Amino acid sequence: PNAASAETAAVVVVGSGIAGCSAALAAAREGVDVLLLTKATKPDDASTDWAQGGISTTRGDPAALTEDIIAASDGTADPDAVDILVEHADAAVEDVLIDTLDIGFDETDSGEFDYAREAAHSESRILHVDAATGTHILRPFLNHVDDHERIEVRQDTAALELITHEGRVYGVVTDEAPDGHPIYAGTTILATGGIGALYSRSTNPDDATGDGIAMAALAGADVADLEYVQFHPTASDCEARSASKRSGGAAKQDTFLLSEALRGEGALLRNADGDRFMPDYHPDAELAPRDVVARAVETEREATGEVVLDVSPLEFDAEFPTIAAKCRDRGIEGDEIPVAPCEHFLCGGIAVDDRGRTSLDRLYAVGECARTGVHGANRLASTSLLEGLVWGLRAGEDAAGVGADPDHTVVDAPDLLNRDPDLPERFATEKFARLQRTMDEYLGLERNPEEIARAGAVLRRLKGEVDAYIRTRTARDLYELRNASVVALLIARAASENAESVGCHYVVEDEREPEQPHP
Ligand code: SIN
Repeated sequence: PNAASAETAAVVVVGSGIAGCSAALAAAREGVDVLLLTKATKPDDASTDWAQGGISTTRGDPAALTEDIIAASDGTADPDAVDILVEHADAAVEDVLIDTLDIGFDETDSGEFDYAREAAHSESRILHVDAATGTHILRPFLNHVDDHERIEVRQDTAALELITHEGRVYGVVTDEAPDGHPIYAGTTILATGGIGALYSRSTNPDDATGDGIAMAALAGADVADLEYVQFHPTASDCEARSASKRSGGAAKQDTFLLSEALRGEGALLRNADGDRFMPDYHPDAELAPRDVVARAVETEREATGEVVLDVSPLEFDAEFPTIAAKCRDRGIEGDEIPVAPCEHFLCGGIAVDDRGRTSLDRLYAVGECARTGVHGANRLASTSLLEGLVWGLRAGEDAAGVGADPDHTVVDAPDLLNRDPDLPERFATEKFARLQRTMDEYLGLERNPEEIARAGAVLRRLKGEVDAYIRTRTARDLYELRNASVVALLIARAASENAESVGCHYVVEDEREPEQPHP
């Protein structure tokens, strides 16, 4: 129907975090033209910009990093995927981050890299810039791809649907026209990030609505491990300063991350009685795997009323100036910062192979929206930027070889004609609030079968209401809501199909039976 206005591109990348930039760069290096679409209007609309701790290297001991990744995942990570990550980690960091982008990772006084340590790492091997590593990587990376002669970056552009026919993907429809703008692509690479907007508290930007996962799943791509939603143990727990665009103007908790690197350097967790409790929960205490620490923090908050991160063992201002400034800015004075777990990272996603290929022909997925198998049921700190970088490069290179040849003769783009691009604002905010309440209550740190089933019922109703609206409208907010409700339902379904407590998926038998400390 709208072929007359159709555009073509060799490789289309959707998303502008580290994974999308890496995929675009790799395809362009192969001599192929790339169109990078992003709904972002500024760098901090991407989760990469929010990443604090850093990016892991092997520091010369690949076997030790492999062991740590698998141990943190409770033995559930895919060893073949971990091998690929570890094998390519140092070369990818050196090639892209050091040689190409010249990122100024922190160094010691003697001019060596200042490798940091984080929870569940057996050694200090993490490259970082202060605790604002993502910002220091992403901004130069965006400038680099923007300046690249083979890459066009198109901001403020959302992909609404994939163009598919008989198991192959032919491109995307964007919201550049009220009735949808088709872009036919040789290959399509999804790098749309995570799902933070499904929860009321998250360390992700508001734009993390699971778009790529929903579009891929609706097109019939396989997804996996969606029950493994990772909660970070130490997000700030303080009063709201600004409203979220998805909270309908209501006060939202002002959530910011207190990097695991703080605990890596010696910060301690204390309950409201002033007691350090982590040694009662795990031999590695504050440096136990993230899922263990998150549940312990929640248990102690419920039992004593508050948990704080005690930064007195550190030179807080000198070692972590960005986080210290954030605390001051929010009026948090002193050495004790109130913390609570919050949604941080989706370990599962669109199922992909060692090159980021999905189960649909000519469709790739990289970064947080993809499930490579590296994280299993619980991701090790500072492996997410690395996974986005390594798989982004591998997928971009592969995609360039496969699909320089867009074909728009076989299939029409989905017909979005005669739809209204507007949406009453209240519709999206009210539905988002219901979705977040459901996810918070029933698909949080702990789940039980009855609550998971209840979540499924609420989310099915909600998706039905959204689907009825989407038949007549193309508003971006509505598509984001559709995507969030599709992914929420898939998470509920995955959780209901997995009775085993492992990693981030912690199933309790009865309503609200908290985890107990164990010696
Ligand atoms: C952090 O800095 O604590 C987050 C690091 C990560 O999620 O990998």
